[in-house]
This record gives sequence, structure tokens and C-alpha cells, in this order.
Amino acid sequence: MTAIIEKDKGLVSRLRADLLEWYDRHKRDLPWRRGARDPYRVWLSEIMLQQTTTAHAAPYYSRFLELWPAVTDLAAAPDEQVMAEWAGLGYYSRARNLIKCARAVVADHGGRFPDTEAGLLSLPGLGAYTAAAVAAIAFDKPANVIDGNIERVMARLYALETPLPEGKALVRQAAQQWVSAERAGDWPQALMDLSAAVCRPKTPQCLLCPLREGCSGYASGNPEKYPVKAAKTAKPRRHGIAFLIVGEGGFIAERRADKGLLGGMLGVPHTPWRDASWTAAEADPPLPGFRPVGHYEHVFTHFALEQAVWKRDATAAEIADLLRRHNDWQLVPFDHQKALPTVFRKALKFL
Ligand code: ADE
Repeated sequence: MTAIIEKDKGLVSRLRADLLEWYDRHKRDLPWRRGARDPYRVWLSEIMLQQTTTAHAAPYYSRFLELWPAVTDLAAAPDEQVMAEWAGLGYYSRARNLIKCARAVVADHGGRFPDTEAGLLSLPGLGAYTAAAVAAIAFDKPANVIDGNIERVMARLYALETPLPEGKALVRQAAQQWVSAERAGDWPQALMDLSAAVCRPKTPQCLLCPLREGCSGYASGNPEKYPVKAAKTAKPRRHGIAFLIVGEGGFIAERRADKGLLGGMLGVPHTPWRDASWTAAEADPPLPGFRPVGHYEHVFTHFALEQAVWKRDATAAEIADLLRRHNDWQLVPFDHQKALPTVFRKALKFL
């Protein structure tokens, strides 16, 4: 690994102050920034905000706090209720770790989050990013917080030519130059707000940027080029058929196995998801007499799913028989669709 070209310490210190001043004037009013800094709230917001936008996460955050105002409340909540409230946020292993972590804080730490990065890292579901973010934002510790947006700011600031993800270690060195005990918790949030409003992915607003003077990407004349991306490989496509079984007052859903994709969540019964598309003869539906009503696409991190939707009305006797044969199936009322993750809610549009 080559090293970054360090910036002058005096310049860093001056621009750091400039960005914090910019933050004081322009910071976003976000639900988790209101009130006192409570480690539980900071942790909850940071877990939710991984891989989703602030606008999407905000209502979930408020709802969780309403249901479970303290970590002890969340630790005591039934798993299924937490999973159902998480539906729509994606990445369900995160929700399972959320419950585990709340319980670990209560069982192993007397209900208080550890106040060091190392202590936080030992909790379930906290990786380098979350441990650093909670240490900084909740405990005002000078931690090197790096998410995808801060990565972009640093890649531009230092005009890093090594593509990501190989260049991550260089990004870490670059970001470290700016870490300081002074306003340690505001600093990463200032970078996040800068990345959202100014150092935007496709349309950086360099003329408004308080860091412009020290920015090698700006000096290059082509800041959009950074972060340099490695050549992309296309996502594999998989195929499936979802079976909508419609009874009086509801539809059939299955509780998915704990392990694996969307583990522990409710889903619509479906064929395996495989590389080849399905012929009607292969589909093996749970009952005869389904008819195809549409199809949709859902993109996961590692593959894109193309799913056909087959539908069938079922009598009360048929439903009772299905539930007897599949003990992980249940009849879900039509107004409980929110308990299912997005990939299955897309199928429910065809109800
Ligand atoms: N994204 C992740 N954490 C955030 C925070 N604390 N403020 C704004 N955006 C964020």
C-alpha cells in the first residue's frame, strides 16, 4: 500500500474549524440529533442508517423509540415484534443483532453502553463503523468514523487514485488526519452533512465547499472522478415464483428459517430462487389451480431477483389443511402487510 500525501497540519486545523462552523449553520434537523445525546438513541439510529437514507429511516426510528424508549425496553421486547417493526428497513440480520445487542447491554453491561470504541466493538452487530460512530457521537471520543459518504469526501480531498474497495486503508489514513478531540462527535456528522448537501456523488457543489482550498479533487478539475471505482461485475439474476394464497380476511405467509437471507422474517411461500427461470411444469405449487398475475424485480446486494406471482383463492378448508401441513405457515390479515419485507410486499401488490 502506498501512503497518502499528508496535508499540512495548519491547513487541516483551519479547514476543520471552517467545516464545523459550516455545520453549525447548515446542519440537518434529524430526529436523532434532538435532545440529549443518549447512547441508545445514537446506536439505534446508526444501525438503522446503515444502507438506507435518513428520510427512510426517520419514521422507523421514531416508532422504535415510541415502543421502546430505553435499551432495557428493547431488550425485553418479543423478537417477532421487533422483526415486524423492522420490516422495510432491509438487512434483517441487523434486526436480529439489534435484539442481541440490546440484551447484551442489559445482561453484560448493567444496561449502559460501553463508552469506548473497543468496548462497543465487542457488542453483537457493531462493526468498525458503528463502534466509531457511537464512540464519537454519543461519548464525544475522537474516533475515526468512516462510512461510504465520508469515504467519498476523503477520496476527493486527497484525490485518491486507488479504486475502492482496495483504497479503503488509504481513506482511513486520510480521515485520521482530521480526527481530533475537539468537537469529536460533531466532526463525523459535519462530514456526513457536507457529503449530503455539498460533496454529492454526481454533482459536487465545490463552490459552496468550506474544504475547497485543501481539496486535491477540486484542484484536479474533475472531483466527480473520485472515488475511483473498480470495474463493476454485473449482478447475477435469479428467478422465482411467489404463491399468493388468498383466504377469507388474509393471505398465507411463511415464517422463514432463522439462518440465511431474510432469516426469521415473514414471507410469501415461493419456489427456490435459482439461476434458470421456471417453467410451469416445474413450479410445484402448494395447490393446483394457480394463475399467473404478474411479476416484479427486486435487487438484493448480491443478486437481482425476478419473481413471477401466481395467485389462487382458497376455501377455509383448504387453508386449514395447508396450515396443518406446514407448521411455519400462517394466515396474515390483509392489513398486516407491513410485517413483511419489501421483496414480498411487492408480490402483495397483486392481491
Ligand atoms: N448517516 C449515518 N449516521 C448519520 C448521522 N448521525 N447523521 C446523519 N446521517 C447519518
